[in-house]
Amino acid sequence: MTMTPSVYHFFFFLLLFSCPSLIAGQLLYNVCGTTGNFTANSTYQTNLHRVLSYLSHNASTSGFATTTFGQIPDLVIGLALCRGDVKTTECRACLNTATQDAQQVCPFNRASMVWYDFCFLRFSNVEFLGSTSNDPQLLLGNTAYVSNPQRFTRLLNLLLNATLDRAARSDERFATGVVSKFTEENPTVYGLVQCLPSLSASQCRQCVRSLYDPLPSFLQGRQGGRVLGVTCTMRYEIYSFFEGSPKVKLTVPLENGTPPPASPPPAVPSP
Ligand SMILES: *[C@@H]1O[C@H](CO)[C@@H](O)[C@H](O)[C@H]1NC(C)=O
Ligand SMILES: *[C@@H]1O[C@H](CO)[C@@H](O)[C@H](O)[C@H]1NC(C)=O
Ligand SMILES: *[C@@H]1O[C@H](CO)[C@@H](O)[C@H](O)[C@H]1NC(C)=O
Ligand SMILES: *[C@@H]1O[C@H](CO)[C@@H](O)[C@H](O)[C@H]1NC(C)=O
Repeated sequence: MTMTPSVYHFFFFLLLFSCPSLIAGQLLYNVCGTTGNFTANSTYQTNLHRVLSYLSHNASTSGFATTTFGQIPDLVIGLALCRGDVKTTECRACLNTATQDAQQVCPFNRASMVWYDFCFLRFSNVEFLGSTSNDPQLLLGNTAYVSNPQRFTRLLNLLLNATLDRAARSDERFATGVVSKFTEENPTVYGLVQCLPSLSASQCRQCVRSLYDPLPSFLQGRQGGRVLGVTCTMRYEIYSFFEGSPKVKLTVPLENGTPPPASPPPAVPSP
């Protein structure tokens, strides 16, 4: 596995060989705050523990929770989100790990964010719940490339458009999708998009679309990629990486190497 983190503009880049054997409980990335430290046994720490305990209990049943506790300067704001397809037990396990890691990787820091395959956890002393900014964003890319990047990117656009449409119309702001191959050289592609359930449908559309339309140059031609942000995320792979059957199933006719149709085929919602 190769891992090359670097900072690009306001985004945090991470190049990672994403393979199915990645351990689900592994910390993908973390960002520590710049809004000060607290001391051991302080009121801030007591409030933080209260927030983290609330989040790990309440988010594991509903998949999403936010809370604030205390008063300035000891106010703590927290948010936890599990990936829409994971089971309650997986969500709980991920958040338990996140609760520990978030404090360990940023010791005594008033703010921390941690990303995993199955969940995301964030806390801060500065209000962020009303923000729709998706920064910082983390990009993860498979080190393997597809044979026809242009065609693959068009296919991805079709898939993510349809999956996003489904996600934006759902209460959970989450959907998965699949598009089966349309030429011999091109693989079946699996996609996933998720927004915070607190975003409106149009905020979700705007956030997710900015992740793949246009596709960041870093991801172009790669067999798999992810953009993980703080309000929305997307992922695609040429293998199935989510639980359950995809919500959106696209079938594009086999075309013997000719370009894909100008107009997208209709999304077929699963029953
Ligand atoms: C917080 O702690 C870190 C590491 O202990 C230190 O580098 C940093 O300067 C501290 N920040 C403030 C605002 O005290
Ligand atoms: C914090 O509290 C624990 C348990 O009450 C105690 O063992 C520890 O020494 C305290 N640490 C500080 C820095 O006061
Ligand atoms: C979960 O949320 C409910 C309703 O907001 C609250 O009453 C309960 O105490 C929370 N659970 C935990 C463990 O904090
Ligand atoms: C995806 O959706 C956008 C916005 O509606 C549209 O402009 C674009 O043509 C769509 N792409 C495909 C491949 O359908």
